[in-house]
Amino acid sequence: MWFMRQAGRSLPEYRALKGDLSILDAVERPELAAELTLQPVTRYGVDAAILFSDIMVPLVGIGIDLEVVPGKGPVIAEPFRDATDLARLRPLDAASDVPYVAEAVRIAAKELEVPLIGFAGGPFTLASYLIEGGPSRVFSRTRTLMHSEPNTWMALMDSLASVAISSLRAQILAGASAIQLFDSWIGWLSLDEYATFVLPATKRIFAGLEDLDVPRIYFGINTSDLLSRMSTAGADVIGVDWRIGIAAARERIGNERGIQGNLNPATCLGPWETVEHETARILQEASAQPGHIFNLGHGVLPETNPEVLEKVVALVHGEQNGAAL
Ligand code: CP3
Repeated sequence: MWFMRQAGRSLPEYRALKGDLSILDAVERPELAAELTLQPVTRYGVDAAILFSDIMVPLVGIGIDLEVVPGKGPVIAEPFRDATDLARLRPLDAASDVPYVAEAVRIAAKELEVPLIGFAGGPFTLASYLIEGGPSRVFSRTRTLMHSEPNTWMALMDSLASVAISSLRAQILAGASAIQLFDSWIGWLSLDEYATFVLPATKRIFAGLEDLDVPRIYFGINTSDLLSRMSTAGADVIGVDWRIGIAAARERIGNERGIQGNLNPATCLGPWETVEHETARILQEASAQPGHIFNLGHGVLPETNPEVLEKVVALVHGEQNGAAL
């Protein structure tokens, strides 16, 4: 078990160590990034660390002018509009463009007694920030480009897939022993749009990591109706959000792959009895098949009380040791 966004504002030790640095500045300091990676492992006793970084970092590396604004999210200085913008997406050379990422991986992996998970943003999610210029609720510009200029769109997906492959390969070679592709916003697409416009580039990402032989996790939210197609992308584990039960998700994913999830992060803000009940239900449903990684259905919310997550870890670990719930 581990928690998405386990390193972050919910931890007082994170706020103390990171201070006023922006996330992108913190990521460029490998010692600091490694330390922030270790914090949740020390605090929670989770079974894996996730690198302290951000999905936007490789785009900074290839020279896209962007900021990650607290309380808002990524903001792009000059959003992508048409085919002429494709020239701005040059290939990522991880060793020279973002040397601090592999360095943070090396430092953290050496210190850790649990596996380190590397990650990258998926092509749809990164494209949505590039095109909308920032966070969006409806992805109107993104979907307009997809449908009105399909060739430009496919070229964009392909460039972003190449960036993800370079970034993930560098993290694995530096010591990450699993990776997760966060294509968080794919659930806003129809099944047809997903299969036609996003799945091909995604397959290329997972195929491009095959030879390195590490577990590959594929995650998005709002994906209940996409799960069976997502399972064809080439990942070893599919991450699901809380909208679907583990048993129903399992039917869509099949038994060939692992499943990760799926406690609602908002549940952790409410009464402990609900957290306990939901955690037990997830473990119960997942116990029908091997290959479950306990996680939240999306990232830890900043206002979460860390003590609640400590208790969730104890509950899950107790269950694994055969203790009664
Ligand atoms: O513990 C971890 O998961 C480690 C690292 C991590 C971060 N971002 C650190 C971070 C990971 C895996 C991400 C992924 C990420 N970043 C995604 C995909 C996952 C998801 O949440 O759906 C997305 C969409 C982003 C883009 C991004 N970066 C957003 C939307 C935000 C939040 C902005 C805000 O303040 O609300 C960020 C900032 C960010 N990324 C923080 C952290 C710890 C907060 C930085 C801070 O203010 O201290």
